Amino acid sequence: MSELKTTAQEFLMVGNEKFVPFLSEEKIQKRIVELGKLLTTEYRGKFPIFIGILNGAFLFLSDLIRNIQLNCEIDFFKLSSYGDEKISSGKVKLLKELNADINDRHVVIVEDIVDSGLSIKYIENLMTNYNPASLKVVSLLYKEKAVKYDVKIDYIGFKIPNKFVIGYGLDYAQKYRNLRSIYALNEEGEK
Ligand code: IMP
Ligand code: MG
Repeated sequence: MSELKTTAQEFLMVGNEKFVPFLSEEKIQKRIVELGKLLTTEYRGKFPIFIGILNGAFLFLSDLIRNIQLNCEIDFFKLSSYGDEKISSGKVKLLKELNADINDRHVVIVEDIVDSGLSIKYIENLMTNYNPASLKVVSLLYKEKAVKYDVKIDYIGFKIPNKFVIGYGLDYAQKYRNLRSIYALNEEGEK
Protein backbone atom coordinates (compact mmCIF):
# COMPACT_ATOMS: atom_id res chain seq x y z
CA MET A 1 0.00 0.00 0.00
CA SER A 2 1.84 3.04 -1.20
CA GLU A 3 -0.91 5.65 -1.37
CA LEU A 4 -1.78 7.98 1.48
CA LYS A 5 -4.06 10.98 1.44
CA THR A 6 -2.34 13.58 3.61
CA THR A 7 -5.23 16.05 3.82
CA ALA A 8 -8.12 15.75 6.31
CA GLN A 9 -10.15 12.57 6.25
CA GLU A 10 -12.91 11.02 8.34
CA PHE A 11 -10.79 8.14 9.58
CA LEU A 12 -7.70 6.17 8.70
CA MET A 13 -7.23 2.42 8.86
CA VAL A 14 -3.80 1.06 9.78
CA GLY A 15 -4.26 -2.69 9.35
CA ASN A 16 -7.36 -3.27 11.46
CA GLU A 17 -6.70 -0.32 13.76
CA LYS A 18 -8.87 2.73 13.27
CA PHE A 19 -7.48 6.25 13.75
CA VAL A 20 -9.88 9.19 14.00
CA PRO A 21 -9.32 12.96 13.60
CA PHE A 22 -7.87 14.46 16.77
CA LEU A 23 -6.24 17.82 15.96
CA SER A 24 -6.91 19.53 12.66
CA GLU A 25 -4.25 21.25 10.59
CA GLU A 26 -5.97 24.59 11.38
CA LYS A 27 -5.90 23.99 15.14
CA ILE A 28 -2.26 22.95 15.07
CA GLN A 29 -1.21 25.94 12.98
CA LYS A 30 -3.22 28.37 15.11
CA ARG A 31 -1.54 27.12 18.28
CA ILE A 32 1.89 27.31 16.65
CA VAL A 33 1.27 30.97 15.78
CA GLU A 34 0.51 31.56 19.49
CA LEU A 35 3.62 29.67 20.61
CA GLY A 36 5.69 31.63 18.08
CA LYS A 37 4.45 34.90 19.55
CA LEU A 38 5.22 33.77 23.10
CA LEU A 39 8.73 32.70 22.16
CA THR A 40 9.34 35.86 20.14
CA THR A 41 8.50 37.90 23.23
CA GLU A 42 10.51 35.67 25.56
CA TYR A 43 13.68 35.80 23.44
CA ARG A 44 13.46 39.39 22.19
CA GLY A 45 16.98 40.89 22.10
CA LYS A 46 18.51 37.39 22.16
CA PHE A 47 19.70 34.95 19.50
CA PRO A 48 18.17 31.60 20.49
CA ILE A 49 19.01 28.21 19.06
CA PHE A 50 16.13 25.78 18.54
CA ILE A 51 17.13 22.15 18.89
CA GLY A 52 14.66 19.67 17.41
CA ILE A 53 14.50 16.05 18.50
CA LEU A 54 14.48 13.90 15.39
CA ASN A 55 12.60 12.44 13.79
CA GLY A 56 9.23 13.44 15.21
CA ALA A 57 9.80 17.16 15.78
CA PHE A 58 10.93 18.07 12.26
CA LEU A 59 7.57 19.50 11.11
CA PHE A 60 6.80 21.26 14.37
CA LEU A 61 10.25 22.87 14.42
CA SER A 62 9.91 24.04 10.83
CA ASP A 63 6.47 25.61 11.41
CA LEU A 64 7.46 27.01 14.80
CA ILE A 65 10.53 28.91 13.64
CA ARG A 66 8.55 30.43 10.78
CA ASN A 67 6.46 32.04 13.50
CA ILE A 68 9.43 33.41 15.42
CA GLN A 69 10.21 36.96 14.40
CA LEU A 70 13.84 36.86 15.54
CA ASN A 71 17.14 35.75 14.18
CA CYS A 72 17.70 32.23 15.39
CA GLU A 73 19.61 29.05 14.63
CA ILE A 74 18.55 25.43 14.52
CA ASP A 75 20.20 22.12 15.24
CA PHE A 76 19.02 18.60 15.98
CA PHE A 77 19.53 15.71 18.33
CA LYS A 78 18.41 12.36 17.05
CA LEU A 79 17.19 9.78 19.53
CA SER A 80 16.34 6.15 18.90
CA SER A 81 12.63 5.69 18.53
CA TYR A 82 9.94 3.31 19.66
CA GLY A 83 11.04 0.89 16.98
CA ASP A 84 7.90 -0.21 15.23
CA GLU A 85 5.81 -0.37 18.36
CA LYS A 86 3.20 1.83 19.97
CA ILE A 87 4.83 1.52 23.37
CA SER A 88 8.23 2.90 24.26
CA SER A 89 11.04 0.40 24.68
CA GLY A 90 12.02 2.27 27.83
CA LYS A 91 15.50 2.76 26.38
CA VAL A 92 16.89 5.79 24.65
CA LYS A 93 19.98 5.94 22.50
CA LEU A 94 21.63 9.02 21.06
CA LEU A 95 21.88 8.61 17.28
CA LYS A 96 23.02 12.13 16.41
CA GLU A 97 24.89 14.66 18.49
CA LEU A 98 24.70 18.41 18.08
CA ASN A 99 26.86 20.17 15.55
CA ALA A 100 26.45 23.70 16.88
CA ASP A 101 28.41 25.09 19.78
CA ILE A 102 25.75 25.90 22.36
CA ASN A 103 28.09 27.13 25.06
CA ASP A 104 26.54 30.31 26.50
CA ARG A 105 23.62 30.13 24.06
CA HIS A 106 19.90 30.40 24.76
CA VAL A 107 18.68 26.91 23.95
CA VAL A 108 15.12 25.82 23.23
CA ILE A 109 14.57 22.07 22.93
CA VAL A 110 11.74 21.32 20.49
CA GLU A 111 9.88 18.03 20.93
CA ASP A 112 6.81 16.64 19.18
CA ILE A 113 5.33 14.82 22.14
CA VAL A 114 6.12 14.07 25.76
CA ASP A 115 4.79 10.66 26.76
CA SER A 116 6.63 9.06 29.70
CA GLY A 117 9.10 11.95 29.72
CA LEU A 118 12.06 9.58 29.30
CA SER A 119 13.37 11.23 26.13
CA ILE A 120 13.28 14.72 27.63
CA LYS A 121 14.88 13.44 30.82
CA TYR A 122 17.65 11.93 28.68
CA ILE A 123 18.13 15.25 26.87
CA GLU A 124 18.16 17.15 30.17
CA ASN A 125 20.95 14.87 31.42
CA LEU A 126 22.82 15.23 28.16
CA MET A 127 22.63 19.02 28.46
CA THR A 128 24.71 18.87 31.63
CA ASN A 129 27.65 18.22 29.24
CA TYR A 130 27.08 21.68 27.81
CA ASN A 131 26.94 25.11 29.28
CA PRO A 132 23.97 26.94 27.75
CA ALA A 133 23.05 30.44 28.95
CA SER A 134 19.48 29.19 29.38
CA LEU A 135 17.48 26.08 28.60
CA LYS A 136 13.77 25.73 27.89
CA VAL A 137 11.64 22.98 26.44
CA VAL A 138 8.68 23.30 24.09
CA SER A 139 6.55 20.32 23.16
CA LEU A 140 3.62 20.36 20.76
CA LEU A 141 1.85 17.58 22.67
CA TYR A 142 1.97 16.49 26.30
CA LYS A 143 0.35 13.29 27.56
CA GLU A 144 -0.24 14.52 31.05
CA LYS A 145 -1.41 11.15 32.48
CA ALA A 146 1.46 9.19 30.93
CA VAL A 147 4.36 11.24 32.31
CA LYS A 148 6.49 9.17 34.69
CA TYR A 149 9.68 11.21 34.87
CA ASP A 150 10.09 14.51 36.61
CA VAL A 151 10.46 16.85 33.65
CA LYS A 152 9.62 20.50 33.22
CA ILE A 153 8.09 21.48 29.91
CA ASP A 154 8.07 25.26 29.60
CA TYR A 155 5.72 25.57 26.64
CA ILE A 156 3.03 23.05 25.71
CA GLY A 157 0.98 23.14 22.53
CA PHE A 158 -1.78 20.81 23.68
CA LYS A 159 -2.26 18.63 26.75
CA ILE A 160 -3.75 15.40 25.44
CA PRO A 161 -5.19 12.20 26.92
CA ASN A 162 -3.11 9.04 27.02
CA LYS A 163 -3.84 8.00 23.43
CA PHE A 164 -1.55 6.88 20.66
CA VAL A 165 -1.46 9.57 17.99
CA ILE A 166 -0.05 9.81 14.48
CA GLY A 167 0.52 12.50 11.88
CA TYR A 168 2.22 15.88 11.74
CA GLY A 169 5.63 14.32 12.35
CA LEU A 170 4.42 11.52 14.63
CA ASP A 171 4.80 8.04 13.23
CA TYR A 172 3.51 4.54 13.56
CA ALA A 173 6.30 2.20 12.43
CA GLN A 174 7.92 5.20 10.68
CA LYS A 175 4.86 5.95 8.57
CA TYR A 176 2.16 8.66 8.65
CA ARG A 177 4.50 11.52 9.57
CA ASN A 178 3.35 13.35 6.46
CA LEU A 179 -0.31 13.64 7.52
CA ARG A 180 -1.16 17.32 7.86
CA SER A 181 -3.32 16.78 10.94
CA ILE A 182 -3.13 14.48 13.95
CA TYR A 183 -5.20 11.31 14.34
CA ALA A 184 -5.75 9.26 17.50
CA LEU A 185 -6.14 5.53 17.81
CA ASN A 186 -9.77 4.72 18.44
CA GLU A 187 -9.64 2.24 21.33
CA GLU A 188 -11.93 -0.78 21.52
CA GLY A 189 -15.42 0.24 22.55
CA GLU A 190 -15.08 3.88 21.46
CA LYS A 191 -17.37 5.11 18.74
P1 IMP B 1 8.78 9.53 25.95
O1 IMP B 1 10.26 9.35 25.95
O2 IMP B 1 8.07 8.33 26.57
O3 IMP B 1 8.31 10.82 26.56
O4 IMP B 1 8.30 9.50 24.46
C1 IMP B 1 8.70 10.48 23.61
C2 IMP B 1 8.87 10.01 22.20
O5 IMP B 1 8.11 8.85 21.88
C3 IMP B 1 8.36 11.11 21.31
O6 IMP B 1 9.41 11.96 20.95
C4 IMP B 1 7.78 10.36 20.15
O7 IMP B 1 8.78 10.19 19.17
C5 IMP B 1 7.39 9.02 20.69
N1 IMP B 1 5.93 8.96 21.01
C6 IMP B 1 5.36 9.09 22.21
N2 IMP B 1 4.02 9.00 22.15
C7 IMP B 1 3.74 8.82 20.84
C8 IMP B 1 2.50 8.68 20.11
O8 IMP B 1 1.38 8.71 20.65
N3 IMP B 1 2.62 8.53 18.76
C9 IMP B 1 3.83 8.50 18.12
N4 IMP B 1 4.99 8.63 18.76
C10 IMP B 1 4.96 8.80 20.11
MG1 MG C 1 10.16 12.28 19.13
